[in-house]
Amino acid sequence: MTWSVADIPDLHGRVAVVTGANGGLGLETARALVRAGAHVLMAARDAAKATGAEADLRSTVPDASVEVVALDLASLASVRQAADDILAAHSTVDILVNNAGLMGIPQRTTEDGFEMQFGVNHLGHFALTAHLLPALLRAEAARVVTVTSTAHHMGRAMDPRNPHLAGRYGPWRAYGQSKLANYHFALGLQDRFAAAGTRAASLLAHPGLSNTELQATSVAETGGGRSQQFFHSLASRVGMTPADGALPQLRAATDPAAQGGQMYAPRFVNSGPPVRRPILRRLGLADAIDRLWEVSERETGVVLDVGAALAALEA
Ligand SMILES: NC(=O)c1ccc[n+]([C@@H]2O[C@H](COP(=O)([O-])OP(=O)(O)OC[C@H]3O[C@@H](n4cnc5c(N)ncnc54)[C@H](OP(=O)(O)O)[C@@H]3O)[C@@H](O)[C@H]2O)c1
Repeated sequence: MTWSVADIPDLHGRVAVVTGANGGLGLETARALVRAGAHVLMAARDAAKATGAEADLRSTVPDASVEVVALDLASLASVRQAADDILAAHSTVDILVNNAGLMGIPQRTTEDGFEMQFGVNHLGHFALTAHLLPALLRAEAARVVTVTSTAHHMGRAMDPRNPHLAGRYGPWRAYGQSKLANYHFALGLQDRFAAAGTRAASLLAHPGLSNTELQATSVAETGGGRSQQFFHSLASRVGMTPADGALPQLRAATDPAAQGGQMYAPRFVNSGPPVRRPILRRLGLADAIDRLWEVSERETGVVLDVGAALAALEA
């Protein structure tokens, strides 16, 4: 049986936050969640693009329950503000899809001085998830889905002494490192949810090769980089549609049979229906996760401690 959006259960009464919801996979994830009845917060950086995306979504789902939240993952202040806005309006968050991302761009830094791909793809999501913990833990059984990539296979575990790749930067090295960080983050978060005895779950998804703006942005940012052009051309010729590419993260977020610590991805690696895939690279996994946690807390100044957040809620 092939899983499709028709398998998404009724989500009325659920609150979902999707980062990077103003385009690509994020917009299609938001659209499918809204269609199933969820109230969706479209967290996005570019306000004009977000307004257009919201109008697009409403044109296909006229009774959509949706709102836009300003979120720039390249700014810890913006991440804090977005979380505060969400927490002020919603006591629970049932689904958080850590989807936004950048790929293969030249060396740049975030507002806080982080290497941009590590900063946006991982550190921003780390801080956002930490800030939203109270609402996630108040939900009956929240799901956090973090979007990685097959590129995590080429990623080297982050060096705690040089997480921002000073003197060692390469656009693909940085992307691989950030997507491996996504991988370790999701698995580490699941360990922490389980250790605290919560019903919240953390899952992974990767979309295979999808024809979104990811590749075009990397071509534009690098002024026509060769490898970036190769992936752009490949994605436009054989990539899945954004709606199909979003299916693994939708399945991870909503399939009642999916469980924490699992990963969903296209059956044929880069395309095909969303299926559960094994978690590989287990050697040294626990150490890599611990290192990532230490560095993420050190760099962001944000502590992600599920047990402490739970105790604070119960106090
Ligand atoms: N497409 C693929 O083949 C593929 C393959 C593997 C993994 N992925 C992953 O899938 C995820 C979604 O990518 P996509 O393919 O949908 O690409 P996309 O169309 O380029 O969308 C990326 C989204 O991330 C947002 N974003 C970028 N920087 C941000 C920031 N600083 N703060 C907040 N949002 C920011 C973008 O917003 P703006 O437009 O406002 O910048 C956009 O909404 C990414 O994590 C990517 O690594 C994609």
